[in-house]
Amino acid sequence: MYQSILTEVDDSIGILTLNKAERHNAIDELLISEITGGLLELEADTRVRAIVLSSTGKSFCAGADLNWIKRAANHTSQENLRDARSLALLMTTLNELSKPTIARVQGPAYGGGVGLIAACDIAVGTYDAQFALTEVKLGILPAVISPYVLAAIGERYCRRYMLSAERFSAAEAYRIGLLHEIVPGEEQLDEAIAEIMDSLLKNGPNAQAECKALIRAVSGQPIDESTVEETAQRITRIRSSPEGKEGLAAILEKRKPNWIG
Ligand code: COA
Repeated sequence: MYQSILTEVDDSIGILTLNKAERHNAIDELLISEITGGLLELEADTRVRAIVLSSTGKSFCAGADLNWIKRAANHTSQENLRDARSLALLMTTLNELSKPTIARVQGPAYGGGVGLIAACDIAVGTYDAQFALTEVKLGILPAVISPYVLAAIGERYCRRYMLSAERFSAAEAYRIGLLHEIVPGEEQLDEAIAEIMDSLLKNGPNAQAECKALIRAVSGQPIDESTVEETAQRITRIRSSPEGKEGLAAILEKRKPNWIG
């Protein structure tokens, strides 16, 4: 049983909910280990085809728990490193899940909260969601989340928002690529996510997992002989896979592929 999160499976959708509303879902050691554990649980659950990362209360996630940062500052450097590595493990786990992930952002997201959103495949937020990379305000760094935030919004906006720690709106988050979609309120948030899920669930699960691995492998690589060969190898493998054959047969036979329904 978890103390700081909830997990549920609704049809083929796994939902992981940060459930520390009274602390605005601020991240501490327990939340880190529970989110990591919950994600791995949903990844291993064969009923689950896609995962929603959501939270209860007014805020999606108020970033690092200030008491946790205070405790970490007094740790030995070994303990401090272990702590930082546990957050790094959470971020890589989320980033590398084979199943598609959607962040459901209903309020403020600061620091590590922005990192969690950036590490999801898809992010949808309400108009009143607010964002900030507040770490430098506290004299610390958005270090562990930086690869994911950089990949989401690029170096130019990282330079502005990581250095200034300014709050920015959902409209700005949409403009710079952190959110894919913005909607007026929570009802529309669920509708928008249901619509995206509808599309996700029609697609080959193995193809989606391979697609995620493809994006990670090709991202940032020069378009040279080795990258081009890598892409050819990947399509060759998937075309001759059972799912690749089934998908093509289904289209040709004008029927649904066997992963639907
Ligand atoms: N760590 C620990 N506790 C936090 C927290 C955090 N990151 N964010 C909020 N809380 C706590 C507050 O200390 C307060 O506790 P209290 O009731 O014991 O005083 C409680 O949550 C409610 O917060 P409050 O600020 O009164 O709520 P609000 O609705 O006015 O504002 C936030 C909510 C999230 C906008 C605001 O709390 C905030 O800016 N938090 C800090 C975010 C931050 O700098 N995070 C660090 C990222 S590196």
